[in-house]
Amino acid sequence: MSAPNKDYDPVEVSSLDSEAVESATTAALAAFVAANDLDELKLARIAHTGDRSPLALANREIGALPPAAKAQAGQRVGKARGLVKQALAAREADLEQERDARVLREERVDVTLAAGQTRVGARHPLTTISERLSDVFVAMGYEVAEGPEIEAEWFNFDALNIAADHPARTMQDTFFVEPAEAGVVLRTHTSPVQIRALLSRELPVYVVCPGRVFRTDELDATHTPVFHQIEGLAVDEGITMADLKGTLDHLAASVFGEGLVTRLRPSYFPFTEPSAELDLQCFACRGESVTNPDRPCRTCGSEGWIEWGGCGMVNPRVLEACGVDSEKYSGFAFGMGLERTLMFRHDITDMRDMVEGDIRFTRAFGLEG
Ligand code: FA5
Ligand code: MG
Repeated sequence: MSAPNKDYDPVEVSSLDSEAVESATTAALAAFVAANDLDELKLARIAHTGDRSPLALANREIGALPPAAKAQAGQRVGKARGLVKQALAAREADLEQERDARVLREERVDVTLAAGQTRVGARHPLTTISERLSDVFVAMGYEVAEGPEIEAEWFNFDALNIAADHPARTMQDTFFVEPAEAGVVLRTHTSPVQIRALLSRELPVYVVCPGRVFRTDELDATHTPVFHQIEGLAVDEGITMADLKGTLDHLAASVFGEGLVTRLRPSYFPFTEPSAELDLQCFACRGESVTNPDRPCRTCGSEGWIEWGGCGMVNPRVLEACGVDSEKYSGFAFGMGLERTLMFRHDITDMRDMVEGDIRFTRAFGLEG
């Protein structure tokens, strides 16, 4: 192995001559300036400061130089590398700042912009009217009771004094559940819940029973085969028809506001005696069509009144069927249609709108609680 060559001239080693170092430095600085973002700067960093960059290679060659040449070459390369390192750090700081500013700009959220329109759901107006009516009774101390929609004929008819051969069985057109001899029907009214309430509760009984009922009626402006009723029953000592009238007037005022006129019209139900239909003055013509033949009313057929429900004093035979002493106790009962109630309350002229499920109809009721 030969001794180090003391005459070695570093100028002759191309990668260490000052021009080469200077041009490597200039190239590095130019590359850093040219880098438009941190990714480009990373490439420039690898090219100009990485292991295989001209300055790193030059640095490695210093070791092979004769001692006399080492110091000078070391100084030159060291200074160049320091400069490059500084320029790199400065450019990096600039580009990071630029990136942060850009991210802030691009990802800016304008909190004053209108929020996206997400429609809020709402309960069906029949649900809300059912609760509204129930609440009126709960406030008077009534309990809410419910019964099954598929009901034994005995509850739906027999216990309500509607015997099998009674013509009243055909008053309500009934859906029978097969097989016919099983004696099961889709309940035609909420009155069977009266029987269930009397059989399962201690006296006195004050219950209100909202629910769905079924009849083979055609769908038209004032009828649907699946509709809702709310039933009320009060059985106590000394209950009279005056209590019934007062309760119904209070209900009408609570639901429709003061001023809507009601009337009781003598009628017949096997389970009440005496019985009456509860009519409301027509919401469309307010009764004016009766005296003004020039302006007939389609809503009430110019009768001035619309039937809201049925009512009466509980027939003693019903009380006895439920084991209640009809000498000691008396009661009243009523049942009205919820679809009709909604029509009166909101001037809805066609019941079909309620069952067709078009949200343009239900949306108008908003989030009424
Ligand atoms: C009854 O159902 C009796 N259970 C009411 C009753 C209860 C009387 C307690 C006495 C004591 P009715 O068949 O008239 O009665 O019906 C009551 C109400 O239900 C009607 O006034 C009407 O508001 C509503 N209704 C009847 N049939 C339909 C139908 N097809 N579509 C919508 N509502 C109806
Ligand atoms: Mg009726």
